[in-house]
Amino acid sequence: MDFRELSFDPAPSITTPPPGPRSREYLAFQAASEAAAVSYPRGLPCALARGRGATVEDVDGNVYIDFFGGAGVMAVGHANPEVVAAAQAQLKLLTHALDLPTPPRRALVERLRAVLPPALTRVFFGGPTGSDAVESAVKLARLNTGRSPLIAFEGSYHGMTSGALSLSSGRSFKNRLLPLVPEVHFVPYAYCYRCAFGLPRETCDLQCAKHLDHVLDDPHSGIGTPAAVIVEPIQGEGGSIVPPPEFLPKVREICDRHQVPLIADEIQAGFCRTGKMFAIEHTGTVPDIMTMSKALGGLGLPISAIAYRENLNTWGPGAHIGTFRGNQIAYAAGAAALRFMREQDLAGHAARLGDCMVAMLREVERESPFVGEVRGKGLMLGVEFVADRATKQPAPDLAARVRSLCFERGVLIEIGGHYSNVARFLPPLVLTEELARKGVEIFAESVRRLEA
Ligand SMILES: Cc1ncc(COP(=O)(O)O)c(C=O)c1O
Repeated sequence: MDFRELSFDPAPSITTPPPGPRSREYLAFQAASEAAAVSYPRGLPCALARGRGATVEDVDGNVYIDFFGGAGVMAVGHANPEVVAAAQAQLKLLTHALDLPTPPRRALVERLRAVLPPALTRVFFGGPTGSDAVESAVKLARLNTGRSPLIAFEGSYHGMTSGALSLSSGRSFKNRLLPLVPEVHFVPYAYCYRCAFGLPRETCDLQCAKHLDHVLDDPHSGIGTPAAVIVEPIQGEGGSIVPPPEFLPKVREICDRHQVPLIADEIQAGFCRTGKMFAIEHTGTVPDIMTMSKALGGLGLPISAIAYRENLNTWGPGAHIGTFRGNQIAYAAGAAALRFMREQDLAGHAARLGDCMVAMLREVERESPFVGEVRGKGLMLGVEFVADRATKQPAPDLAARVRSLCFERGVLIEIGGHYSNVARFLPPLVLTEELARKGVEIFAESVRRLEA
C-alpha cells in the first residue's frame, strides 16, 4: 500500500496562525468548563477536527504532521480505512458482551496469539486503559507468589490508577499526598546518558542490572522478596530511553535466579513501534506477564490486555472483574489493526523510517549546543535538551520552546523525560518518508532558532 494515500496532502499546511479563532473559542470553553487537570492543550493549543494517517487537521483548517500520534496510540494511522470498516461493521452487530465469547473477541485473541511469544499462552482483558492492564498484571503476580513488594525502575511510567501510579517514578505524581501502594521500590534503569552510578557505558559492566541483583540477593537490602519486577523494555515517558541490548536479558536472568516474575510493560513500545511487533523481541527476552494497550484498539478505542505464562493461570472465576472487559468494537478494530500491521510490515517500515529520522536528528545533535542526546528505536525517538553539553544541565524550557515553534509551523511533538527536557516523537507508523523528512526539517529549524 502507498501510505501517501492515507494522510492529508499537503501537510503541513498552516493557513491561520495557530491557535486560530475557532480553536481559541474551543480552548476558552474548555478552560472555563473542564478540569484544571486537562494538560495537552497547554503545550499544543488547538482543537482538532479530523485525522488522517500521520496528519491531523484543526478546527481552523490547519493541517499538522502528527509526530505525537495520540501518545503512541495511533500506530496504524488516524482513520485507517481498513480498521474503520471493521469497527463500523461491528458497531451494527454487537457492542457489549462482558466476557462472553464473541467472534471479534476470538479473532483478536487468535491474532494476538499469533504474534505473542509462544510461552505467553493466556490472554486476559480487563478494564480499558493501560493502567488497568498494569493493575491486573500486578494482581496476578501477587496472587501467584503470595508476596506483596514490587520493584520498578527509575524513569518508569505505568499509569495513573493507584497501583500503576505507585509503580511510576515521577516525583510530581508522588508529591500530591495521595495514598500510594506500599512496598514499591525503584532501582536504576539503564539510562546511560545520565548513569545513576556515574559510569561510562563502555566500562560499566551493567552496574544498574547488578544493583537489582544486589537488592534481591542481600538479605539486608531492606526490600522484601518481590511479587514482581516490572520493566518497560524501552522507556517511554521517561524520555524514550533505549537500554543496551544486554540489559533486559540480564534482568530476566536475575529474576529467574531469584524466582521473581518479570512483567514487561509493552503498552507504549509494543505493536511495531520500535521496529518489532514487541520491543522485547529486540533481545529475545520473554517475560512472565506482558501488558498491552494503546495501539491495541486500532483507532484509539480503549482496550487493554495482559498475556501471561500458563503456570500463572491459577486465579479463579471473577478474580478480576469489571463492566468493560474488553469492548466488541475495539476487538474488531484491534484484530483489523493487527492484520494491517502484519500485511503492511509496519514493523519493518518503522525500523527503516526510524533510522532515517535518527540520521537526520544526529545532524541536529552535531550542530546544536543544546542537544545532549538523540536516541530511540524505530519510531519511538527522543531528543534530550540541555543548557550545556558538558554539564548536561537539563533544559526543559528549551524543549517547551521547540515544541511551540514546531507547533506554529505545523508539527506536533510531545515532551517527556526525567526533567521534562526530552522532545518525544511517536508518530503513526504509516508516516511516509516525505512527511518524516519535512517534520524533522521543521524540528531542526526550530532548534536552530533557539540559538538565535
Ligand atoms: C509504558 C506505559 N504503561 C502504562 C501506561 C498507562 O496507560 P493509560 O494511560 O492508558 O492508563 C502508559 C501511558 O502512557 C505507558 O506509556
